[in-house]
Amino acid sequence: MARIKIDLDRTIGTVDARIFSGFIEHMGRCIYGGIFEEGSPLGDERGFRRDVMQAIRGLRLPILRWPGGNFSSGYHWVDGVGPRDRRPRRMELAWRAEESNRFGTDEFVEYCRAVGTEPYICVNIGSGTMDEAQAWVEYCNGTGNTYWANLRRQNGHADAFGVKYWGLGNEIYGSWQIGSLSAEDYVKKAVQFAHVMKRTDPSIELVGCGKFGLDDWDRIVLEGLAAHIQWYSIHIYTGSEQYYTNVFVPHQAERALRSCRALIDRVRYAQGIRHPIHVAYDEWNVWYRARANTNWEEQYDLSDSLAAATYLNVFVRHCQTIRMANISEVVNIIAPIMTSPQGLYLQTTYHPLQLYAQHTRPVALDAYVECETYDLTGEEDTSRLRGRAVADLGPFKLLDVAATRDADGRQLTLAVVNRDRDRDWPTTIHVVDRGVDGGVAYEVNGRDPKVRNSFEEPDAVVVRERPLAVAGQRFEYTFPAHSTTVLCLELSRP
Ligand code: AHR
Repeated sequence: MARIKIDLDRTIGTVDARIFSGFIEHMGRCIYGGIFEEGSPLGDERGFRRDVMQAIRGLRLPILRWPGGNFSSGYHWVDGVGPRDRRPRRMELAWRAEESNRFGTDEFVEYCRAVGTEPYICVNIGSGTMDEAQAWVEYCNGTGNTYWANLRRQNGHADAFGVKYWGLGNEIYGSWQIGSLSAEDYVKKAVQFAHVMKRTDPSIELVGCGKFGLDDWDRIVLEGLAAHIQWYSIHIYTGSEQYYTNVFVPHQAERALRSCRALIDRVRYAQGIRHPIHVAYDEWNVWYRARANTNWEEQYDLSDSLAAATYLNVFVRHCQTIRMANISEVVNIIAPIMTSPQGLYLQTTYHPLQLYAQHTRPVALDAYVECETYDLTGEEDTSRLRGRAVADLGPFKLLDVAATRDADGRQLTLAVVNRDRDRDWPTTIHVVDRGVDGGVAYEVNGRDPKVRNSFEEPDAVVVRERPLAVAGQRFEYTFPAHSTTVLCLELSRP
């Protein structure tokens, strides 16, 4: 028997809904053939796939990051504005592709409006210049009678786009990145970019390029850039063919968040920086099958859905540090939504993303969880953490829990991931000083951890909803093996 005890007064902090954000990139079939397909019977007059928009709306993404990723480090945004037929078709070096430029800044912002999300643009700090970045901010946000703002008007957009979030480059530390830089060189370049971008629109928020590396990148970059940024980005992809490693390795995100939090605190204190700097985990996902020499279209199974839910629980528990997280990516490429020219299906990972975005409440609670643990020590490390051993993060509780409540203490949401591959876990749930007065249970599950959704079998893993006839301060609930359960509970005073 496991036990979960909730005290509504033991708050951790406020959960920022921006942790349920997304990312799209010019990579494989994410944009072309994913969200944008001109001439498709499933597309609207703008070329936006209607079925994809509906699925994206279901995820309630507060922010959408674009255009990359690695793509951004070679992207010249001017190629992607103006009459579509006159835009240049370019060699695309990040993914060794061809870029038609038929989807550019105007289309991206319009897409964001259509699906109800805020645009976040990552500028080209690889092959790009600060003039280009400055012009991009002016094109999007300029209100004066100036060249780039007038070009936007000429392109049919009288009102400024008001793009608030701007990334100062992507993974620019990596040898795979176009124009990769040392930490010192990145700081010099990023400070110059930040200067002209902020002078163009002081209201924008800038995201510095973090690494969570084993070298000195994070210290050097934070020391040099902290005064200029509101966000510090990190990326983590995890995954393993070994079930228990796959479902536990997202706890690496806790290590990354603790480490970044400490570095940010230290630098802010040392430099007397008053403004907050939050972590933007602007690329996260399970990604290990469809890597090099593939089309990057990861086919997710149920165990990956448990890993995704564990990531989300981590983000909720670390809500004081992380205020933005972007599932990478949203369509086709390592994505919860998979399309063909004829339709789409939802991958196993779609369901926890949707449930958490819908049911997470604004106040995070420190849940007490008593249950059996699992130790990876002694097992072959298949985590691909390059020396940052996953076993050290354990032993892992088989039940991973994130608890949130509304401001008034009338609604409680318990998100419980039962990572036990084989056993259901009967659990006593105890809410201190409150009575539970019914609720609803949503469960993501399937016949076994390896099961996947597909065009042939789109509902192998789905969400099952059932009313909960529970009452009193204590009740019992059984969390089935390999499941994610979101319990939405109504509370009353006992
Ligand atoms: O999301 C795919 C790629 O993964 C991104 O382009 C890059 O930033 C990361 O390495």
